[in-house]
Amino acid sequence: MSVLDRAELRALVARIAAEPASWRDLVRHGTPERHFEQLWRDDDVDVWVISWASGNDTGFHDHDVSSGAVAVVEGELIEERMVLSGEPIRFHHRAGEAFDFDASHVHRMHQDSGARSVSIHAYSPPLWRMGSYAIGGDGTLRRQSISYAEELRPAEVVV
Ligand SMILES: [Fe+2]
Repeated sequence: MSVLDRAELRALVARIAAEPASWRDLVRHGTPERHFEQLWRDDDVDVWVISWASGNDTGFHDHDVSSGAVAVVEGELIEERMVLSGEPIRFHHRAGEAFDFDASHVHRMHQDSGARSVSIHAYSPPLWRMGSYAIGGDGTLRRQSISYAEELRPAEVVV
């Protein structure tokens, strides 16, 4: 195997989404924050099952050198893509839908539907570092490099 491209990542999350027996036991609802479970990790790709509660918000971030794909399998998620000259562009991703992105992508994912959501995420090469964006005290955009482990904390690693 080698690094997966966007189409391969999207096909992977779609295939996993269609096999709930492979991830259903990793869904955890009832926690106030997003709950991450690593379904797979090898040299080329990592796959996560993320359970969302209403109000959960990633903030704007990038995925360093990784491309990715997300399949929503329950509920809905809102994705915002940053626009420097205006309001972010919003996308609603509903159960049964998927999207993919390359390493240049900057987005924010949040869930404020009042209900819970579950999504399957795949990244290639596997996530190691991520960039988290915030507005500094002087109003300028700041990027903080964070470990994927700070953001995507596996409660249980299944390899
Ligand atoms: Fe992301």
